[in-house]
Amino acid sequence: MRGEICVGAASILSLVSMILMIFAHVGQINTSNVPRKISMASVNMTGYGAALDQSFIDPIDDIYTNNASAPLGTRAGLRQIYKFGLYSHCGYVNNTHGICGNHTIGDQFRPYDAITSDMAANYSIITQALIGDTTTFQDSNYLGQATKAAYWMLLLGTICAALALLTGILKNSLTFFVSTIFSVAGSILLLIGASIWTVMVKKCESVSDILIDVPSSPPIGITVSVGSGLYLTWAAFVCLVVSVVPYMISCCTYRG
Ligand SMILES: *[C@@H]1O[C@H](CO)[C@@H](O)[C@H](O)[C@H]1NC(C)=O
Ligand SMILES: *[C@@H]1O[C@H](CO)[C@@H](O)[C@H](O)[C@H]1NC(C)=O
Ligand SMILES: *[C@@H]1O[C@H](CO)[C@@H](O)[C@H](O)[C@H]1NC(C)=O
Ligand SMILES: *[C@@H]1O[C@H](CO)[C@@H](O)[C@H](O)[C@H]1NC(C)=O
Ligand SMILES: *[C@@H]1O[C@H](CO)[C@@H](O)[C@H](O)[C@H]1NC(C)=O
Repeated sequence: MRGEICVGAASILSLVSMILMIFAHVGQINTSNVPRKISMASVNMTGYGAALDQSFIDPIDDIYTNNASAPLGTRAGLRQIYKFGLYSHCGYVNNTHGICGNHTIGDQFRPYDAITSDMAANYSIITQALIGDTTTFQDSNYLGQATKAAYWMLLLGTICAALALLTGILKNSLTFFVSTIFSVAGSILLLIGASIWTVMVKKCESVSDILIDVPSSPPIGITVSVGSGLYLTWAAFVCLVVSVVPYMISCCTYRG
């Protein structure tokens, strides 16, 4: 009887881990209710227009677009919020309306490219001068390659969680051994993937410390933050790593 409880607990934990990862994967696939709220990272550009307006004599009132369906990356105007998922990123003109870019397997986290490719060319030049080339935020190749590698870790980690669940259902000590291996491997992969994403987003957060070099020195008004998808990923990691213990106990003690 205690063996059954152990197996059940392990199966539930790996199932929860897999479901959390599925939610993390659907983030920003489109702008409908659930995917819209799930992202690995978000960039809030709301304060940027006002910061520029304060710093330059020319009025900066046309930097944003209100057209939620204007395509991204075509200099059609800056969006208020950008959110990045594992397969695409989306730009939102307000809390509910926005548009997503093309879907790619392992979409790279390139926030600087996303914002500058939406601005008119003259604002893009100003932005380049303000952000400079020393911040990580601006280093799209570094951020992009790291997050693409992290994507593969997260995908393989999700597959491992699913395989741990499936093999654990066939109750015998050999399959419990295989489940243990999958849950250990999946935990390591999710840990690496989630860590890389977290480090990349944290490194970008310092962009908000930039002060515009004018007498009033206003902050640049760009904030980068960790999205809910990354928290789901960490939760999935915790569930999978905890499932290792009951899988291991079942593997050592099951006498089916
Ligand atoms: C974006 O930043 C502004 C302030 O600059 C804040 O009022 C707003 O709530 C933020 N939006 C989101 C979605 O975080
Ligand atoms: C918004 O952008 C779309 C796509 O470019 C365009 O078809 C539409 O006419 C625009 N709407 C307005 C009100 O400008
Ligand atoms: C999306 O894909 C289309 C067709 O492949 C391409 O023309 C367009 O430039 C892409 N858009 C972005 C933002 O990459
Ligand atoms: C968001 O923007 C869209 C398109 O511009 C508009 O139709 C909608 O009313 C806006 N929603 C809110 C809550 O402001
Ligand atoms: C930037 O260019 C846009 C259109 O290309 C123009 O409307 C705007 O006035 C320009 N802004 C500045 C500050 O030069």
